[in-house]
Amino acid sequence: MTTFTIAPSILSADFARLGEDVEKVLAAGADIIHFDVMDNHYVPNLTFGPMICKALRDYGITAPIDVHLMVKPVNDLIEQFADAGATYISFHPEASDHIDRSLQLIIDKGCQAGLVFNPATPLYYLDHVMDKLHHILLMSVNPGFGGQSFIPSTLDKLRLVKQCILQSGHDIRIEIDGGVKVDNIRAIAEAGADMFVAGSAIFNQPDYKHVIDKMRAELAA
Ligand code: DX5
Ligand code: ZN
Repeated sequence: MTTFTIAPSILSADFARLGEDVEKVLAAGADIIHFDVMDNHYVPNLTFGPMICKALRDYGITAPIDVHLMVKPVNDLIEQFADAGATYISFHPEASDHIDRSLQLIIDKGCQAGLVFNPATPLYYLDHVMDKLHHILLMSVNPGFGGQSFIPSTLDKLRLVKQCILQSGHDIRIEIDGGVKVDNIRAIAEAGADMFVAGSAIFNQPDYKHVIDKMRAELAA
């Protein structure tokens, strides 16, 4: 039985009341909190740093925090987010000069490691690191902004990744990030994903529980 994880991205949350908004979305049934960290260098947008992660931990958020680093270089922020209370940390292979070393750093800091693939990034970066991965994050939009449309070709790439994992024998989760909605989440799950990042689909709705319940109903269908 597949365990599905709903991961609201705080990119679309109310930053004037972030602690309350995160509390609200967790109470509405979200499983983990997705942090879209952008540096206006690797991607053309700027969001937040490790202090926001620490602030949410100090506020009392105990749910897993899933840090998606859209930054270059990555190693310093891996250490700072791990120290600030991150649970999962993932980065884009193009943003690290030494992918294995960066993954090992995440693990050595007590977090679980993920590798992130942009829509056009080939999967050969997986070839020698599957043993280090907790999850593989497939971008279903080009990174930098919430509210974009899901790129349909991601589903074929997702099926390929699922096959790679099955052949590897490793228990690795597949996370999809970008343009995930109630009306496409079932197709994404059927293609092999089990972790779903959703920013605008959840935070742009008045009733978080209603939309998360609808997502779960689609996943259970
Ligand atoms: C892009 C971001 C977004 C965000 C989700 O860099 O990673 O994909 O998480 O945004 P929505 O769910 O609004 O597409
Ligand atoms: Zn993300």
